[in-house]
Amino acid sequence: MTAPLELAESNPILCQAIANRIATAPQQRIPFTEFMDLALYHPQYGYYVTHPQGIQNDFLPSPHLGADFGELLAEQFAQMWQICDRPHRFTLVEMGAGQGLIVQDVLRYLHRHHFECFEALEYLIVERSSAMIAAQQQRLQKLAESWGNLSWKHWDEIPPHSIVGCCFSNELVDAFPVHQIAIADGQFQEIYVTTPTQETNTNPFHFVETLAEPSTPRLTEYFDRLGLDFSTANYPNGYRSEVNLAALDWITTIADRLHTGYLLTIDYGYPAHRYYSPGRTQGTLQCYYQHAHHSDPYVAIGRQDITAHVDFTALENRGNSVACRRLALPSKDCS
Ligand SMILES: C[S@@+](CC[C@H](N)C(=O)[O-])C[C@H]1O[C@@H](n2cnc3c(N)ncnc32)[C@H](O)[C@@H]1O
Repeated sequence: MTAPLELAESNPILCQAIANRIATAPQQRIPFTEFMDLALYHPQYGYYVTHPQGIQNDFLPSPHLGADFGELLAEQFAQMWQICDRPHRFTLVEMGAGQGLIVQDVLRYLHRHHFECFEALEYLIVERSSAMIAAQQQRLQKLAESWGNLSWKHWDEIPPHSIVGCCFSNELVDAFPVHQIAIADGQFQEIYVTTPTQETNTNPFHFVETLAEPSTPRLTEYFDRLGLDFSTANYPNGYRSEVNLAALDWITTIADRLHTGYLLTIDYGYPAHRYYSPGRTQGTLQCYYQHAHHSDPYVAIGRQDITAHVDFTALENRGNSVACRRLALPSKDCS
């Protein structure tokens, strides 16, 4: 793994919290997904909790480049509203709204260009980070007060099969914690995170990887479903990649809340055959710190973003199994 030289120090309190979690875990190790979850979303010290105003210092999501992104989305929402027979209530659910920039661009555009659609709108934000919610509410306070149809909800507050509209996200799924898998001695293994033994550990905030049997049968089921067999000679020892099980659960939740409408998700990723190409030996995990990227999640812990590309085939398969049908061909893969 390579890392830029000038990274911030890891957050010591967060590292201590992760080390404590490892100390109490079975066999003193946690699956990588749990490490990533704590690094990004620890309720007090995670990256998305301590950087509510600052994620654009590390990477630049499309909405930060100008209004065009939200306006293009708005044009798409207006078309969806038409296709749904112009319902009198049309709900937009933005999931993982970051700094809340898309809301204003979408609403302004629909108000100006598709007023009937605008009049039917309700806009819900589903956001995991309480600090992000506070930042969004601060930015959108005036709008929320004057318009009245904008609110923040947890999935539990949205009744099953209640949404007529569109659930959408931008750069959300690549921010979900992922499992990491590896091939070692021809065996399919999972990557766990642990602390070095007391004798060898001079740095209390040092984490190391260890390989073991998968923590959940869902990992092997995932690849069975994709028809991928890691026991073939194509996959070299040392091969590693990511599995986003949280994304599958997320699709199931959305399908449960949707009555009629769409799920639109915009992200970085590949179809499975490219994602798990034997040549992509080091997976897709990337860390972002002040617009530099590298692949070492064990530095600048709590101060850098960690992402993994999305396997669109797995999303599509899960969608099919929960009665969601893919509507358009995915755009060209980016590599
Ligand atoms: C990379 S940022 C993208 C922000 C925004 N969509 C944009 O394009 O600027 C990811 C956002 O998703 C939020 N998030 C992560 N996991 C989530 C989840 N399970 N449900 C809702 N929001 C989540 C993060 O807190 C953060 O606000």
